[in-house]
Formats: sequence, C-alpha cells, structure tokens
Amino acid sequence: MTEKLVLGIESSCDETSAAVLLGESRILGHVILSQDVHRVYGGVVPELAARAHLNVIDEVVDAALRQAEASLHDIDALGVTTGPGLIGALLVGVCWTKAAAFALRRPIVPVHHMEAHLFAPCLEDHEAVPPFVALLVSGGHTLLIHAEAWGRYRVLGQTRDDAAGEAFDKVAKLLGLSYPGGPQVEALALEGDASRHPLPRPMVRGDQHASDPDYLDFSFSGLKTAAAERVRAVESAGSLEGERAHLCAAFQEAAIDTLVTKTMRAVELTGCRRVLLGGGVSANGQLRSEMARRLGPDGRLFHASLRLSVDNAAMIARCAAFHLASGGVGELTMDAEASLPFPALPSTAA
Ligand code: KG4
Ligand code: ZN
Repeated sequence: MTEKLVLGIESSCDETSAAVLLGESRILGHVILSQDVHRVYGGVVPELAARAHLNVIDEVVDAALRQAEASLHDIDALGVTTGPGLIGALLVGVCWTKAAAFALRRPIVPVHHMEAHLFAPCLEDHEAVPPFVALLVSGGHTLLIHAEAWGRYRVLGQTRDDAAGEAFDKVAKLLGLSYPGGPQVEALALEGDASRHPLPRPMVRGDQHASDPDYLDFSFSGLKTAAAERVRAVESAGSLEGERAHLCAAFQEAAIDTLVTKTMRAVELTGCRRVLLGGGVSANGQLRSEMARRLGPDGRLFHASLRLSVDNAAMIARCAAFHLASGGVGELTMDAEASLPFPALPSTAA
C-alpha cells in the first residue's frame, strides 16, 4: 500500500497550524503561527483568536505545502481538529477543511485535539506507541489516560476545576508575567527557592485509597488560591520583586509534585511502566525530569520535542492518518464542538 499524504489543520486555540505528513512520521511541511495579540490581554480572547485564524489560514496552509513541495491536489486526505477548543477558532479550521475536502473530493477526518497530543511523541520516536499511561496537561485539560492501543483509551483521572496549564497561566498573571505564563514561570523558578513558600498538594493525601473517587483526579483551584494569597501577602509587604522567583518555584514544585504523584498512582494501578507526557505543560523541563526520576530506570518515559509539545498540526495529521487507516472518515456535515468528550471506552476502571 502506498503511503498517504495527509494535510493536518489545527485552529482550536491561539495557534494556526498546517502540516503535510507522509505516511506515519515524515513531516514534509509544518507551519505553526502563534497569535501575539493575546499577550496584551493576559489571556486568549476568543473573538480575536477566531479573526486571527481567518486572516492567516490560507497563507499558513500555502507555506506548509510549499515546504513540502506539494500542491493541494497531491493531498490524499485532510484531518482537522473538531474539538475541544474555542468554538469560533475551531470553526475557522473546520470550515476551511470542509471546503477544501469538498473541492478536492478527498476524505476528511475529524480529530480530537487531546487524542492528537497522544500522537505527537511518536512522530519523533517510533517506540512512543501504546501501551502507555499518558498525562495530558494543556491550557484547557488535565487528563490521565491508559492507552491500551491506538484508539483504545480509558480515562483514569481528570481535573475537577482548573487545568494545569490554566493554573500556570493564572499564577503567572498574578505575578505580573505575560501570557502564556508557563514558560516564564519555569524560567524564573530556576532561580527560586520553593521552600520559602510552602504550598498545598491538592487531592494528594497519604490516607487516600485507590477506591476513593479523587484518587486519580486533579484539582488546581485550591493551589491557585493558596498561591494568590502568598502573592497578596508579599505584595502588601512590598517584597514582590524579591519573592517572584521563589513563588514561581514553590507553585511549580507543588503542581509538578501533584501531577507526578497521580501519574505514578496510575502506573502502579495499571502495572504499565511506560509513561507519555503530552500537551503544552509537558514542555516543562522540571516536569519531565521529576517524572523520569520517580518512574525509575525500569520505566520508559516518552515526550515530544518542545515544538511538538505545544499545539501543532503535525500531531493532528498523525492522528488523522491513524483514523484514516482504521476507517474513521468523517462526513462533510460534521461540526466543531467546543466540549468534545475524550474518545474513551465507557468504563473508567483501571
Ligand atoms: O497544549 P497547549 O499548547 O494548548 C492547549 O491545548 O491548551 O498548552 C498551552 C499551555 C499554556 O497554559 C502554557 O502556559 C502551558 O501550556 N505551557 C507550559 C510550558 N510551556 C507551555 N506550562 C509550564 N511549563 C512550560 N514550560
Ligand atoms: Zn493542546
């Protein structure tokens, strides 16, 4: 069977991205355009995100095709993020891709954005395939998943309030850092001493048992509030400048300890010592090294390079290629869905 050329399109949040993928891992063209406009507002403004996608999507696709030395007519199938995400932003990618699929008479494959994050590492490492326990941590989601095979997933745990990336961004904003906050918190934390500001580890208690409903779930709003109280205290004492790096270190340490502890619980419960980190927060070097340390030498840790950890269309094309091969082609009547549920098997049991 000849390898398929898939065009992937991503527009769920504030990156407009297009990728041309040959077969399972040959990225022939890939463009990721991040929208700067949101920096002014300290967070993504949905209306502005949608308009910015609309302004650049043609050029982004053209640039990816040029890199691939291909034309739209060479494409065998198109994959597009249909959710979850900002509805106006999603609609730009979905409408563009539907129109192209209709005009070219090519199959269109709907892609779940978080499932696509699972596929990013295998674009660079052919061993990053199921079975694995995946910690997916992004600006909108925090999911702990047991992937038995591609397409066979069980959701083991998820956040009950804020996502991990959202907590990084909110704490960064409180500290006067610009959006997105995660990379800046990480950079400042390198110079900070976490022990100066003890912060809680949400839903992590020694007396918790695997049968407790919150054993594998996450909650970040309490940690965010505790961090906000510390920020207010140092601010009123006039010492925010001097304490900023220490606060970053303390928040980051608490968030990472929580994420890694829950992931290790999932590792013990499933008996699967192959762990994959995905989503924007997986770009965090401290998260990667702490996960590797706690997993130990008999475990395997997979994550993508920095470029493929954040939102990108190569992972969308790779996920689409999998569904295309297993018959998961969509209809031109398909729609974008802001809260698209993760495509997991019904049972949440480990
Ligand atoms: O997956 P992603 O690019 O977009 C969504 O699907 O949401 O994730 C974006 C999130 C943002 O909250 C950003 O602050 C966070 O990932 N992030 C990080 C780092 N790089 C990006 N968080 C912590 N440390 C980082 N180095
Ligand atoms: Zn994402």
